[in-house]
Amino acid sequence: MTKFVDLTPTLGTEILDLDLADDLDDATAATLQRLLGLRGLLVFRDQAKLTPERHVEISRRFGGLEVHVQKRYHHQAHPEILIVSNVVENGAPIGLADAGKYWHSDLSYLAEPSLGSLLHAQELPTDGSGDTLFADTRASYDALDAATKRRLVGLSAEHSYVARNNAQAAVNPDRRIDESTAAKVPPVLHPVVRAHPLTKRPALFVNEGFTTRIVDLPDAESRALLDRLFAHSIEPRFLYRHQWRAHDLVFWDNRSTMHLATGCPANERRTLFRTTVRGDRPIAYVPAAAEIAA
Ligand code: SIN
Repeated sequence: MTKFVDLTPTLGTEILDLDLADDLDDATAATLQRLLGLRGLLVFRDQAKLTPERHVEISRRFGGLEVHVQKRYHHQAHPEILIVSNVVENGAPIGLADAGKYWHSDLSYLAEPSLGSLLHAQELPTDGSGDTLFADTRASYDALDAATKRRLVGLSAEHSYVARNNAQAAVNPDRRIDESTAAKVPPVLHPVVRAHPLTKRPALFVNEGFTTRIVDLPDAESRALLDRLFAHSIEPRFLYRHQWRAHDLVFWDNRSTMHLATGCPANERRTLFRTTVRGDRPIAYVPAAAEIAA
């Protein structure tokens, strides 16, 4: 693996000469892990030979795999694969149709949120729609003024799957979950700014999908600060737009990016398979005094 091209100055690298269906030696896997930490997102085009079994195998090279809390959207032979799809067969959706139509970092609602996700295109809209947007949450943190960085020191935010799912279920009854499923994903607290375990770089770790409030602030102040951080972190200067091509695989780092599925018209079919690699408990970033000096 020798050929790469960067996708934006800070976010994303396309790997030009790697077929993930072939053997992945340890040195290449280690390079990919480092690159992911540095660039936040890796794109592999034309992975036509990658079977679901191999997708799972490759993903395991980066850590244990999560099995999504909503069992009905699992791949039948490989429960580690979450089917993301708007396709309905025999009156039932074959996958999670409204996955990610809001900015989020996968599984930020777990005590140990995901390290990264590998999404492999199976069937794409014929009209060119269905892009995924990615936001670089390191670049958005870096761009904050010193006063805001000072304000964020020591703050923690609540992340909740149930709050998000209830909002989705209000418009899509397929999303309803029972109490025992909800009990598996209680709300959790994470630092608002986390340090990346490999690079030690700070990244904002709040997202409109799952973050409900900053627990150290009164409600109105928490809402205002979250809204400001959400709006700031999706400014165009921090974004990469992935326009899917047949058999693309995108591997993103959930510790330093957020993403949003832009959707496609209902008459278009869009199906992707996602594996989600387990991560660590986020560690709060503590800035050096000079970084936040007035
Ligand atoms: C996801 O959020 O995992 C799905 C993204 C997409 O469908 O583009």
